[in-house]
Amino acid sequence: MAPMPVPDLLETDRLVLRPRRAEHAATYRLLWTERDPRVPEHRRIDAHGRPTVADVAARLGDEPGLLAVHRRDTDEVVGYCGLTGWGSPPPDEPELVFELLRAAQGRGYATEAGQAVVAWARESGCSRLRATVWDWNVASRRVLAKLGFRETGDVVARSAAGCSLLTVRDL
Ligand SMILES: CC(C)(COP(=O)(O)OP(=O)(O)OC[C@H]1O[C@@H](n2cnc3c(N)ncnc32)[C@H](O)[C@@H]1OP(=O)(O)O)[C@@H](O)C(=O)NCCC(=O)NCCS
Repeated sequence: MAPMPVPDLLETDRLVLRPRRAEHAATYRLLWTERDPRVPEHRRIDAHGRPTVADVAARLGDEPGLLAVHRRDTDEVVGYCGLTGWGSPPPDEPELVFELLRAAQGRGYATEAGQAVVAWARESGCSRLRATVWDWNVASRRVLAKLGFRETGDVVARSAAGCSLLTVRDL
């Protein structure tokens, strides 16, 4: 499969998705501070306050397939949604990820952004997407179900708090 270009713009009724920019790094770090304590430690702010906003800004280029989710009405960035594992050669089955600020949750934004990313993947020639989700993460499991992902029964990681489940969606 040819490398899939990252879109400059994905649009939905209420959202606009664009490549992430360093000027919004403080928002992405806020997501780190809001993470559930059951999320593994390497994805939470450490005792030294790392990653800092500057650290987050410096790493944005590592995952070009993750797009900023902007509210269309205010242009405010409320999180990100996209495909990980970007690069050359691209993975056959990219992984869908999404994370929203708490203040923006509960309005259907994750599902709406996810639908746009699933359509992008399909139009780019992907035949299947993966997503992993902690068993305790009821909201995310519900979003994945609404997006048409099915749970495979495979556990890809375990922690003291639970299991990370593999889900897939044929495109
Ligand atoms: C998961 C997350 C992205 C959902 O965002 P969102 O915009 O609120 O999601 P949506 O509104 O599109 O859908 C959420 C669904 O979960 C349901 N839900 C939310 N919390 C729930 C709970 N505690 N119990 C049961 N259902 C719940 C909602 O009712 C909704 O389903 P419905 O449309 O059938 O009513 C958001 O909670 C988040 O960013 N969480 C932290 C990061 C994360 O977990 N990322 C995903 C990693 S796999």
